[in-house]
Amino acid sequence: MTERHPPLRSYGRTKARTLKPRQEALLETLLPRLAIPAGPIDLDALFKRPSPLAGEGREGGASADLADESAKTSSWAGGVALEIGFGGGEHLVAQAAAHPDMRFIGVEPFVNGVASCLRHIEESGVANVRLHQGDARDILPRLPDASLNLVYVLFPDPWPKARHHKRRLIQPGFIADLARVLAPGGEVRFATDWRDYAAWAIELFLKNAAFAWTAERAEDWRRPWPGHVATRYEKKRLGDCSPVYLRFSRVNLA
Ligand SMILES: C[S@@+](CC[C@H](N)C(=O)[O-])C[C@H]1O[C@@H](n2cnc3c(N)ncnc32)[C@H](O)[C@@H]1O
Repeated sequence: MTERHPPLRSYGRTKARTLKPRQEALLETLLPRLAIPAGPIDLDALFKRPSPLAGEGREGGASADLADESAKTSSWAGGVALEIGFGGGEHLVAQAAAHPDMRFIGVEPFVNGVASCLRHIEESGVANVRLHQGDARDILPRLPDASLNLVYVLFPDPWPKARHHKRRLIQPGFIADLARVLAPGGEVRFATDWRDYAAWAIELFLKNAAFAWTAERAEDWRRPWPGHVATRYEKKRLGDCSPVYLRFSRVNLA
């Protein structure tokens, strides 16, 4: 049994400006059809539910750049990727469009972000995304063991002050939960532009025997992984260093 997360919030606001009528409508009509039902998550049942957008859009219409994904990612065909804290959902939906053979779950507590993601889903017509509006730490315990291939944690709230470090998403218990839900050979992709958070993540992931840091040279963490789509926060450059891209591989302990 993995350690339960502390009840501290790892995120700031859950709602900002007033939602536009179209956003309200998407939250009322599209979100319920894409939302993860309560209880243990049955991934096959979740994605078997016909998506309201199936066949409508340009699913599979990825750019040549996005289609140029690593051999590793293509070995995850049919697999499941989770994006934790997807913000406005641009990255999540771009990856879903680039990998129609994978299934994507996005989790985000910020309602304006969820509404933005729904707009991207509707406009792109991707049918392989399901959403949870809330805390990812409530979702992880509900996922089956070894059920995910890929987890994205991109530019999480940095909580730079030392007294707030306990609010950071990356904590030993959270990493243990990721180790349980990731299949061997799966990967956590973590990016930040806060120097101290990068060092924090490396230290904590390497303390867990289930993870190995894949970097062999500086280029491996200075450059994004193949097929990366820059996120909104990444473009803002609000941190204190250039973005750092860390890949932690779920090793087979057996
Ligand atoms: C700094 S923003 C980055 C958003 C996006 N990944 C990007 O790069 O543009 C961090 C996001 O993580 C979300 N977040 C924080 N704690 C979370 C949690 N426990 N579960 C899910 N999302 C969380 C926040 O609401 C926020 O949208």
